[in-house]
Amino acid sequence: MTVHSDILILGSGVAGLSTAIKLAKALPEKKIIIATKDNKEESNTKYAQGGIAVVWDKLDSFESHIADTLRAGDYENNEEIVRMVIENAPERIQELISWGADFDLKSENTYDLGKEGGHSAKRILHHKDITGFEVQMTLLHQIESLPNVELLSHHFAIDLITQHHTEGKIIQFGDTDISCFGAYIMNEKTQKIDTYSAQITILATGGAGQTYASTTNPVIATGDGIAMAYRANAKVADMQYVQFHPTSLYEPGKSPAFLISEAVRGFGAYLRNDKGERFMLAVDERAELASRDIVSRAINIELNKSGADNVYLDCTHLDQKAFDHHFPNIVEKCQSLGIDVSKDFIPVVPAMHYLMGGIVIDQQGRTSIKNLFANGEVTRSGLHGANRLASNSLLEALVYGTVISDYITENLAIFKEPIPTIPKWNTEGTTAPKEMILISHNRKSVQYIMTDLVAIVRSNERLERALDHLNYLYEDTEKLYKKVVLSPQIIELRNLNACAHLTVTQSMEMNKNKGAFYSLDLLD
Ligand code: FAD
Ligand code: SIN
Repeated sequence: MTVHSDILILGSGVAGLSTAIKLAKALPEKKIIIATKDNKEESNTKYAQGGIAVVWDKLDSFESHIADTLRAGDYENNEEIVRMVIENAPERIQELISWGADFDLKSENTYDLGKEGGHSAKRILHHKDITGFEVQMTLLHQIESLPNVELLSHHFAIDLITQHHTEGKIIQFGDTDISCFGAYIMNEKTQKIDTYSAQITILATGGAGQTYASTTNPVIATGDGIAMAYRANAKVADMQYVQFHPTSLYEPGKSPAFLISEAVRGFGAYLRNDKGERFMLAVDERAELASRDIVSRAINIELNKSGADNVYLDCTHLDQKAFDHHFPNIVEKCQSLGIDVSKDFIPVVPAMHYLMGGIVIDQQGRTSIKNLFANGEVTRSGLHGANRLASNSLLEALVYGTVISDYITENLAIFKEPIPTIPKWNTEGTTAPKEMILISHNRKSVQYIMTDLVAIVRSNERLERALDHLNYLYEDTEKLYKKVVLSPQIIELRNLNACAHLTVTQSMEMNKNKGAFYSLDLLD
């Protein structure tokens, strides 16, 4: 089956939905399809806790938010993009509120602004400790009211369609005349792979937390968009910059790991080692509220020194009533494990949380491939540099949703390239896999290679070993991919492997330590 739309959006998190809403309102005559691989709510967005960073308080300033973002990013950010995102934030948040998003108030008409690591002011708007869920539901509600948007859940994008498919062209890395004509998408109910042609395609498929065994990201975060774009020869950069959140709940064997929001430290919680010491005091003048790269590395050092499995978050000195009110979900989760946050310390460890690297986009959200845009965690926009400042991610996606929509609306005439004949997906010569377990074994292998060898502290030797192991898995996965009938499992495995590979090879290209990237063999 071939389905045509004017605009095809892959992914239904904050990036996909906010872009779709803005485009659908600006271009009511255009047909927009959103294809998403799970149910429509499932995304990293849904699990966001802390909130959205925005200059809201009169005493705060854009210059201060910009300075914090640059410092957290170890000055590897693109300052123009940082300024653009931060200065557009209040308008985007106002719009989100007008769509129904409910942020917590301190008093009538005054928002309760939270604080997180690396921020020098209180500027985090939040909905309790489930801000992402509030944002996701608000956006989905808007989507339902837009007649020109069709949202297809359980539709899994496999590959972008380019001249590679339409002309059999061997695309070389760096080619500047590649165009995207849509994507091949698997309907998970029919198991058929259909052709979705489109004048404009927008990748909003999120991050790749699942490349690691220990991550706060849900199982959908398999780097599909990055891998698809890379296969189509789009520019992908900064994959070495992997953010480990300092405080995921320590629950051995549990994946994804439950997050204990940084807003908890913003609320005044202390980090303590197994001797009960507040070790962050000796590390950074901001103590527990230093940026994530610094706190996660400090925890790593503590764990190596002590041999302990975890450190602790101490909330026992905090106003418990106010704490319960702000963090009901976290309190409930702790209670379910017998942890009373008013008396007990919460055991925590760092876990893979966010990928700063991804598909390179410019100030308009354009990738290096014609007619292909990208938004959200799938991108490397230049906002985050070498380490993302807390709560800047939801914001980035909201701002770029509008930026992309404005650019497309103002330049509609460019997107008239005729779509060539697209061949059907070729399933010839494939058979049902005999043992799915081989695929899940390989997925776990990728995750353990990355966790053991490519984590917070890296070294040349570890990276070389990781590359050897991943190369073997790559060969094995490609053999399987060519002979079995495609399933989401084998596609995700292939994509995870590609992202892991990029993280390792781009780590190997580093010649100094920056932000979240740290190697024992390099200088700061
Ligand atoms: P996602 O929200 O992950 O959406 C990706 C979408 O693409 C999903 O719908 C997915 O199903 C779909 N998809 C993926 N692959 C395919 C495919 N092959 N075909 C079709 N569809 C596909 N950031 C903040 O700013 N503030 C916070 O408080 C915060 N807290 C966080 C807490 C947690 C636990 C986590 C995990 C992240 C948090 N983040 C936070 C980060 C932030 O949530 C994400 O970076 C952001 O939501 C990414 O949005 P996105 O739309 O780019 O991707
Ligand atoms: C958190 O609540 O700690 C996550 C915030 C973020 O990732 O920006």
